[in-house]
Amino acid sequence: MRFAVLVSGHGSNLFALLEAEARGALAPAEIAVVLSNRPDAPALDRAQKFAKPTVIVDHRDYAGRDDFEAAMLAALDPYRVEAVVLAGFMRILETRFVSAFPNRIINTHPALLPSFPGLDAPAQAIEYGVKQSGCSVHFVDLGVDTGPIIAQVAVPVLDDDDAGSLHERIKAREHELLPEVVQLLAAGRLQCVGRRVCHLPAPHVPAHNANENAKP
Ligand code: GRF
Repeated sequence: MRFAVLVSGHGSNLFALLEAEARGALAPAEIAVVLSNRPDAPALDRAQKFAKPTVIVDHRDYAGRDDFEAAMLAALDPYRVEAVVLAGFMRILETRFVSAFPNRIINTHPALLPSFPGLDAPAQAIEYGVKQSGCSVHFVDLGVDTGPIIAQVAVPVLDDDDAGSLHERIKAREHELLPEVVQLLAAGRLQCVGRRVCHLPAPHVPAHNANENAKP
């Protein structure tokens, strides 16, 4: 399954995906292209180091979201993308883009949804005083961080944490979880039943039959 990874910033989650692909842990997912809405995103350098095609669609060049999304779809079209990962992509997606990839867009969010959606989730968690936060990988719908949750990992909030230190600890877990979910999606092992996402077992691969070449 051919994926586009959409980024806006640093790209540590993109790097985790690229490394997973390089060591064979992402198959049958394949990163076909990296799209950034920011021309100066450090994530673009990471993609280029892995020799991945990159495209820039700067949202500031478009009058509205619909035009921006049409431009993104046009830019992705040559790469025959079947699914999309939002890895620190800082734009809200609307109907045109979301409906182009039904149940094929996933996002990673640095909190245990439905707590602390939207911007600055680690700061929200610190401010609220929770003792556990974490990361959530979810399908993207038309709300902000409201789509069906695929997987979550909890991360403790320490007494001396600030938003930055908590976010770094959460990111370390995102870097493990996001490639796992991408692989599951590509392998057809995620099944949505309403809002619940079931993880299907890996298909049984029969052990190599030592006698298969034996003559009858
Ligand atoms: C991640 O924490 C992700 O959950 C959030 O934005 C951050 C992106 O970090 N949506 P990076 O650009 O992948 O380093």
